[in-house]
Amino acid sequence: MTIHDDVLLSVEGLTKLYGNRKGCEDISFELYPGEVLAVVGESGSGKSTLLNCLSTAILPNSGSVTYRMRDGSRRNIYAMSEAERRLLMRTDWGFVHQNPADGLRMSVSAGANVGERLMAVGDRHYGNIRSSAIDWLGRVEIAADRVDDQPRAFSGGMRQRLQIARNLVTAPRLIFMDEPTGGLDVSVQARLLDLLRGLVTDLGLAAVVVTHDLAVARLLSQRMIVMKNGRIIEHGLTDRVLDDPRAPYTQLLVSSILQV
Ligand SMILES: Nc1ncnc2c1ncn2[C@@H]1O[C@H](COP(=O)(O)OP(=O)(O)OP(=O)(O)O)[C@@H](O)[C@H]1O
Ligand SMILES: [Mg+2]
Repeated sequence: MTIHDDVLLSVEGLTKLYGNRKGCEDISFELYPGEVLAVVGESGSGKSTLLNCLSTAILPNSGSVTYRMRDGSRRNIYAMSEAERRLLMRTDWGFVHQNPADGLRMSVSAGANVGERLMAVGDRHYGNIRSSAIDWLGRVEIAADRVDDQPRAFSGGMRQRLQIARNLVTAPRLIFMDEPTGGLDVSVQARLLDLLRGLVTDLGLAAVVVTHDLAVARLLSQRMIVMKNGRIIEHGLTDRVLDDPRAPYTQLLVSSILQV
């Protein structure tokens, strides 16, 4: 296998079975630095399974994922030690869960939620950590006077923005998001999407975004894959897939949604 020099993440033949139930099957794609890939498909099509395999939250039955580290070396993420993987997860990678409670510590302050990731990368200066945390709260439109509040006291949209700040404070190169706007009301979703799009562009972040919402895919991603029954049934530039879907299932998906 030859991998193009720039490729950040290379996924080859990833399969995950739960007993004899198929989670995802034979998934392959490449992701370039700064590129956003949307993963769309109906409920149960294997989107979260794929994302959880990529983030090593679960291990696949077969297949490989190769990541280009900051020093340029390529590593098979499943061959890394637990400690290396944890470090990667805390520094170079981020994971935004659909439910903010899964990605936050609900009973420590907002500032500490953000600061904790900085401490994990070795920042020990309290004043710096606090000012970075406040800076990041501002970037996700949370007022500085909420820095000592616990996420419990935040609305759903604010919690999601806090989770994003916590993930981005270490300047990761790759972020995984599972339905980042799911469970929020429509006006909050639109605003969060705008914010996310701005951050991803400003930071040159690469991302894999799972969504069942084609409008989210349209707004955030350059490329998308469509999954059905655990497999990729269509893969291409987002505009091409949405304007000229080829697989019958994608045609159905696109035609059933107005205004994408
Ligand atoms: N922990 C598990 N144990 C057994 N089967 C599972 C488990 N997690 C997922 N599955 C099965 O794997 C398949 C893919 O599920 P997955 O959660 O990846 O789908 P999804 O595309 O994320 O769906 P949704 O849009 O509803 O979140 C489904 O058939 C599901 O029932
Ligand atoms: Mg899911």
